[in-house]
Amino acid sequence: MLLRGISMSAQFNTNSLTSLTTDKPTTFRKQRSFSDRVGIGFLVVTFVAIILGLAIGIPLSKRDTNSGGGGGGAPQSSELQRAKQLLTANPLIDGHNDLPWQFRQYANNSVYSVNLGQDMRNTWNNETWMDDKSFPRIPSQTDIPRLRTGKVGGQFWAVFVSCASVEKDAVRLGLDQTDVIHKFVDKYDDFKLATTAQGITDAFNDGKIASLIGLEGGHMIGNSLGALRMYYRMGVRYMTLTHSCDVEWADSVKADTRTPPSNKGLTEFGKKVVKEMNRLGMIVDLSHTSVQTQKDALGVTQAPVIFSHSSAYALCNHARNVKDEVLQLTKQNNGLVMINFYKPYIDCAPTNTSGNISTVADHIDHVKNLVGVDYVGIGADYDGVPELVEGLEDVSTYPYLFEELIRRGWTDADLIKLAGGNLLRVFRDVEAVKNSLSNLNPIEDIMDRSLRNENCTTGY
Ligand SMILES: *[C@@H]1O[C@H](CO)[C@@H](O)[C@H](O)[C@H]1NC(C)=O
Ligand SMILES: *[C@@H]1O[C@H](CO)[C@@H](O)[C@H](O)[C@H]1NC(C)=O
Ligand SMILES: *[C@@H]1O[C@H](CO)[C@@H](O)[C@H](O)[C@H]1NC(C)=O
Ligand SMILES: *[C@@H]1O[C@H](CO)[C@@H](O)[C@H](O)[C@H]1NC(C)=O
Ligand SMILES: *[C@@H]1O[C@H](CO)[C@@H](O)[C@H](O)[C@H]1NC(C)=O
Repeated sequence: MLLRGISMSAQFNTNSLTSLTTDKPTTFRKQRSFSDRVGIGFLVVTFVAIILGLAIGIPLSKRDTNSGGGGGGAPQSSELQRAKQLLTANPLIDGHNDLPWQFRQYANNSVYSVNLGQDMRNTWNNETWMDDKSFPRIPSQTDIPRLRTGKVGGQFWAVFVSCASVEKDAVRLGLDQTDVIHKFVDKYDDFKLATTAQGITDAFNDGKIASLIGLEGGHMIGNSLGALRMYYRMGVRYMTLTHSCDVEWADSVKADTRTPPSNKGLTEFGKKVVKEMNRLGMIVDLSHTSVQTQKDALGVTQAPVIFSHSSAYALCNHARNVKDEVLQLTKQNNGLVMINFYKPYIDCAPTNTSGNISTVADHIDHVKNLVGVDYVGIGADYDGVPELVEGLEDVSTYPYLFEELIRRGWTDADLIKLAGGNLLRVFRDVEAVKNSLSNLNPIEDIMDRSLRNENCTTGY
């Protein structure tokens, strides 16, 4: 399963991170010893050396163009080289990564006992997994060296807690996971918190991985618009309306799979949640929701929505994937579907493929061909799923997908949209709607108290 990933681990010694710490001092040392020998004009030469050092140092401090990924010294295809150059100059912004949950599962949320600057496959694997036994164990698919090799420019980190916490301590657990993200973003220079579209671009231009926060499941607001607003203030910029369980105000994907299917969709309070998200400038994420919830949300939202990690239902009829009719509605909404690499969402009936790089490309091409290249992105779901398609096993592998799309004749302009351009467009549109609604007061509705589980809440 991790064959390609394992062969690439030997490469970490020669990737851009290492060259950052070794090459730059060498460059400066060489300049200094030269100036020492010349003696006369020392200051002038030092000045020149500093300018030279800056000229060399600035490009080095950005992502470098030709290291990392693939082959362990084997010749790279021209398509792969082009893919890496493209992702060096333009941000790849992934919609969903569950690294924060790994901190809970493997380390009781301790960030300072863990070194993300090393290959985490040795640290977080089947043997070391420890916490919530109700959830599948997920060997590490994310760390900083592999993010750099994979050319990741921006990442939505997921605030996730399982549905076991619904109507219990979901809000507190959501706060904990938000805290974990702030802790690791603060700890590492490689990350920079981004809460605006411009913030993503600025962080990327500064050589950082723009780090965004997405709340994966409405259960973590505890039916409270006040809690929703506080999550926004903590930096959360999307909320997935549900995870894999219904909340009182919105049906999840479960509604589509139970017999008979339920059809609640969004309640009146749920529609207020969407309106308040529009007012706040928080992106509405419809992954994990039922088709009726998707249609209701698309009917009420004033801003574009995303599916942060869902694939195409027409190619693989898993309930978590997006149906063609909803893809059409998403286009009308100017929204975005970010394709998931989890094998069971890529490889199932009716196509029954083997689940590899080309079948992920098929899902991307399906959205492009049906509704257009402006509505497709990437939300791989790394560190949140136990089984990835072959060839895309961890965050270091994104360039191989772009290599495949280049082979299929994708233009640079289209690849840039897929990588992050579309997400930036959606985010800017969401910000524009927020600005247009700045005259509105916060929505102060309280959800019907009778809907609350009296055994698990205080009652007010
Ligand atoms: C996490 O906390 C539990 C309960 O206190 C403890 O048994 C376990 O050893 C801790 N694990 C780590 C990795 O700190
Ligand atoms: C990890 O454990 C799971 C569940 O027992 C198993 O399916 C998987 O093959 C294991 N993975 C490795 C790499 O050992
Ligand atoms: C695809 O797989 C499903 C489930 O295993 C099966 O029912 C169906 O016949 C398969 N379709 C094709 C075209 O092989
Ligand atoms: C992916 O699998 C399909 C069969 O489902 C095969 O035709 C194709 O060559 C595979 N592509 C890669 C890149 O392995
Ligand atoms: C609350 O607990 C009582 C007693 O166990 C039970 O009968 C009732 O169904 C519970 N209410 C809910 C909403 O779960």
